[in-house]
Amino acid sequence: MIILAFETSCDETSVAVLNDEEILSNIIFSQYSHIKFGGVVPEIASREHLKYIVTLTEDALKKAGKKIQEIELVSATYQPGLIGALLIGLNFAKATAMTLNSYFVPVNHIQAHLYSSFIGSKRPVFPFLSLIISGGHTLLVLVKDYFKHKIIGHTVDDAAGEAFDKVAKMLRLGYPGGPVIDRISQSGDKHFCRFPIASVRNKPFHFSFSGIKTSVLYYMRENKIDIKKDRQTVIDIAASFQYTMVETLFRKTFKAADEFGIKNICLSGGVSANSALKEKFNSLVQKGYRIYIPDKEYTTDNAAMIGITALYRFRSTKDKQYYRNESFSINAKPKLDYENF
Ligand code: KG4
Ligand code: ZN
Repeated sequence: MIILAFETSCDETSVAVLNDEEILSNIIFSQYSHIKFGGVVPEIASREHLKYIVTLTEDALKKAGKKIQEIELVSATYQPGLIGALLIGLNFAKATAMTLNSYFVPVNHIQAHLYSSFIGSKRPVFPFLSLIISGGHTLLVLVKDYFKHKIIGHTVDDAAGEAFDKVAKMLRLGYPGGPVIDRISQSGDKHFCRFPIASVRNKPFHFSFSGIKTSVLYYMRENKIDIKKDRQTVIDIAASFQYTMVETLFRKTFKAADEFGIKNICLSGGVSANSALKEKFNSLVQKGYRIYIPDKEYTTDNAAMIGITALYRFRSTKDKQYYRNESFSINAKPKLDYENF
């Protein structure tokens, strides 16, 4: 089945073409207009999606060597995300599917991060634990089969990526914060200062990342750190922060894997590109665990993961006609629907 997929939930405009699970093209345009604002400006994001979506679709089709008439299924992210941004991709996708008289499969962006683990030759085996760590969400999910998900933990405040972004902003390292903290931490002392590993009462697999950001702030204030002059100290603080983030994510996931007797662990979402995190999880391989981390192109937002999730959703639905009729009435939703995940 030839699939055309769109991702426009935040500040990446991405279009992909797939032949079943095979990714024929995956064009990602990361909107750099937000950099000078130190974060995503929703209105700018919508305008940029609108400006580039047609050209990117043409590019994706060209790279895939496919004509638009060959598309049999169109998909797009419908939740969660910035409402204006979601609407661009979703409506563009619906209009394309209507014109082509093809199937239309709306996709949950967080589920798409989860299924990004299936991109490539090394596919996870059910059951597995999926740690989804993005800029807006942090979820630990027990996956028994396709779309048999049980959320066993999530953040009660900030998401992991959000913590990286906020701490980077505090240390004036730029946006997005994750990649730069990752890079500079390589020359920092991760044991320079100790930040707390937060736990949530009676919820062993829930996360809380708002405290660590405050700890970093207090450390800076109490020790009168001059960001401009104390360059190495800033690097050491970044490394210590990253170490604590990695330890928190690792310990909770490992504990869950132990409790549920699971040996297959998948990481996904922007933060799973973090080199220290990858190293930590990959160290479990020698203990008999199987660790799945997507290639960098598929960790941050991309349309290929939307396409592959649409394919699995389509395959696991008996009534295919649903995707020629009712699916077109599904609307954009800004918040993640935890109940029906
Ligand atoms: O999954 P994603 O592209 O977008 C959302 O769905 O939110 O994740 C973006 C997040 C940002 O917070 C960014 O700082 C973080 O992923 N990120 C990283 C790294 N690369 C991206 N965090 C830590 N280390 C990285 N190497
Ligand atoms: Zn994402």
